[in-house]
Amino acid sequence: MSERRHEIAFTVNGRRVEAVVPARMTLADLLRDRLRLTGTHVACGQGLCGSCNVLLGGRSARSCLTLAVQADGQEVTTIEGLGGDDGPSEVQAAFVRHRALQCGFCTPGFVVLAEELLAEVDAGLRPAPEQVRDRLAASVCRCTGYAPIVAAVQELVDERVARGTR
Ligand code: FES
Ligand code: FES
Repeated sequence: MSERRHEIAFTVNGRRVEAVVPARMTLADLLRDRLRLTGTHVACGQGLCGSCNVLLGGRSARSCLTLAVQADGQEVTTIEGLGGDDGPSEVQAAFVRHRALQCGFCTPGFVVLAEELLAEVDAGLRPAPEQVRDRLAASVCRCTGYAPIVAAVQELVDERVARGTR
């Protein structure tokens, strides 16, 4: 028996997308294989490493565990939607400044986590340094070590907090 297919429509990086997808297709496969948004990386495919993080309705989500049908009606942001022709995003620039990447495979997942956290800081969250580290512990990096990643995000958190309290 063939797998059921569903019509879905959602926004990805500001662009409306319509697709017919198998019930069990993951959001990662839809983004990478159909929409060619290959900046979303898949490593473990089991929800463990965070390489596949995207923003789904403003919250980070493991796209390897998220079904494509769950994106229906939602707003999805991938690494391709952060930064662009005008240059890197604030988070991406901080990662470069702090040399917070080596091979870069994990970087899109960490950038998504940072964007989620900074949006919460803009909304009034004041995370302690241990909380910043805890949030970033949701992703795994196999080569750069975590100190520069934490330093890059902490710098941005401190800047946003200072801006918000001026
Ligand atoms: S590929 Fe999704 S969490 Fe590892
Ligand atoms: S920079 Fe290589 S896995 Fe993180």
